[in-house]
Amino acid sequence: MVPIHISTRVAELHKILHAHNYHYYVEQAPIITDHEFDQLLRELQEYEAAYPSLVTSDSPSQRVGGEVSEKFPKVAHPGPILSLGNAFGAEEAHDWAARIARLDDRVESTSFTVEPKIDGLTVVLHYENGLFVQGATRGNGEIGEDITANLRTIRSMPLRLPVAPDADVVVPTRLVVRGEAFLPVAEFEAMNEKLAAAGEKTYVNPRNTASGALRNLDTKVTASRPLTLLCYQVVLIEGVTLTSQWETLEYLKALGFPVPAVSTLFDKIDDAVAFCVEWGEKRHALTYETDGMVIKVNPNDLYEDLGITGKDPRAAVAFKYPAEEVTTTLNDIGVNVGRTGVLTPYAILEPVAVGGVVVKQATLHNFDFIFEKDIRIGDRVLIKRAGEVIPYVIGPVEAARSGAEVVFEIPTLCPVCGELAEQPEGEVAVYCMNTSCPAQLKRVIEHFVSRGTLDIDGFGEKLAVQLVDEGLLSDVADVFTLTKEQLLTLDGFAEKKAVNLVAAIDVAKTRPLDRLLSALGIKGVGDVAATDLAKRFGSLDALQAASVEDLVAIEGIGPISAQFVADWFVKPSNQKLLDKLRALNVWPTQAVVEASPDDEALAFSGMTFVLTGTLPNWSRSDAKAFIEQHGGKVSGSVSKKTSYVVVGASPGSKAAKAEQLGIQLLDEAALQALIAL
Ligand code: IVH
Repeated sequence: MVPIHISTRVAELHKILHAHNYHYYVEQAPIITDHEFDQLLRELQEYEAAYPSLVTSDSPSQRVGGEVSEKFPKVAHPGPILSLGNAFGAEEAHDWAARIARLDDRVESTSFTVEPKIDGLTVVLHYENGLFVQGATRGNGEIGEDITANLRTIRSMPLRLPVAPDADVVVPTRLVVRGEAFLPVAEFEAMNEKLAAAGEKTYVNPRNTASGALRNLDTKVTASRPLTLLCYQVVLIEGVTLTSQWETLEYLKALGFPVPAVSTLFDKIDDAVAFCVEWGEKRHALTYETDGMVIKVNPNDLYEDLGITGKDPRAAVAFKYPAEEVTTTLNDIGVNVGRTGVLTPYAILEPVAVGGVVVKQATLHNFDFIFEKDIRIGDRVLIKRAGEVIPYVIGPVEAARSGAEVVFEIPTLCPVCGELAEQPEGEVAVYCMNTSCPAQLKRVIEHFVSRGTLDIDGFGEKLAVQLVDEGLLSDVADVFTLTKEQLLTLDGFAEKKAVNLVAAIDVAKTRPLDRLLSALGIKGVGDVAATDLAKRFGSLDALQAASVEDLVAIEGIGPISAQFVADWFVKPSNQKLLDKLRALNVWPTQAVVEASPDDEALAFSGMTFVLTGTLPNWSRSDAKAFIEQHGGKVSGSVSKKTSYVVVGASPGSKAAKAEQLGIQLLDEAALQALIAL
């Protein structure tokens, strides 16, 4: 007997899934992501597996896999183009391995390949005596669409094998290869930027864009899209024998097919799974989007013998990462006030799990974005959270509108202080014009005491908010006159904490000039510019006396930043602030360094370093100071020009990007050792 709550849920799932199929295939306007659809389907399949009597011929589970459109001629595949079962996380991957080990003793000692699961579109490529003769989409797995002409426009797709005429490789008489066509993320973003600049509608994500381009009836449109390809499977081969997946990848590479570079062969399933876990974060440095890795049993005979369940080979599994794109409801639009008074809108969302965490808010960038995308309050919206990126709204799901959605209006008053908000001529941003707006002051103080600037231990966002709300701070200089007694009046402060904070503030009074300069938060003056200005002027007095011309003369300070600096010093509220700092003796000076050719003699001259992760002994600023002292530069992002990436514990995607670009990684000790050489 099927419990009643299960049969009710199954009926409900039928209805929901049929409706989504209709939105997707007939209206071609899906209102949930593929991943959300998969999850609903998975729920249904689990019930059907537990209670086979629930499987009916009209169940949505019976029509999984794409549909074949009438637009293109049809192509029958030489064998079924299968899909993959999923494993969410390490535990499910181990379960999969244990399951197949019970079916065949050889699994215990077999090797596995791990490949990235490229988030693109399956293409099936046919070659006869080395010549590309036909290409198809996956379609329903048995019959696909003939997109030969479109595929020919993809430059990385071999038209004749081997690609290198002198390659030492036997060309098969017949070959059918499976690969994935996709748009590299950077190309996608560049394309969208161009479209946005031209005032045209932008695309939602690389996958949908690639799909549209590949299945366009006008080959010229396909050719204009920077599509590319990676291949990973031989569907059929005549004239050559391959015995394993690893050999297949090597062979495809030798013929000249592009093959995913991160593919690796493992002797043990534990190592294969660990590799998948490790790439969870690192994958954001890849040039394409991946939603998982694929683990495959390596020897072809064992792979075949393990057979198929439904449409999935038992011998392979997709190790899926948490979905990074989901839909949810936009409950409201909030407005933040930043350090410079800029008002920025953010989305208040119906909480939703994305990228492994529950998200309640997401950025909406700026007001223009809301109107360009026609985002309305109450809309179903697509949101994305990839790696360390702050969650952001991609756009509305227009097909899901009920008509009750409300168009957002730009506030004319600051939501915090209630004073006038204005959009200066020629600027996109709207500003709160009140320089003593408490919201601005909170941000200014938060920046002033933060790790990268004056680094006051125990002073964070929460305390900045508390102090402004209690009226204890009216500008940043007031930080230095805070007393133990004042702190003790605040919630959460006891004797020891207050004493420690006062001591930490005392230490901050003696921070060098460059730190104070970046703490002041002058527009256009970040870490690097602050260091340059401190070196060339040596004191706030000298800097205040500098003309725009003097400032521009410094390498790395452009005319816009120079003007910002000059403007900052003229402003009466800032002059008052400077007077207070001088009176408090928070007035660091340092020896003026003239630009000198000597710089070139330093060990790190001309070198650029990137820091990522937590170093064992040094703070970020220590490492930066060390590098700069020896003539090197520190940059925030890895590029081909980076000389070294210094890696500490829990590094970000920068380490992965460095590996990709072949840039040498150093730990703290190795960095120090460079000087000892
Ligand atoms: S193996 C029978 N390997 O992921 C073997 N698939 O969910 C099944 N995909 O439809 C495919 N990268 O389009 C395999 N390295 C890779 C892949 C990959 C992307 C796609 C493929 C398939 C889907 C399965």
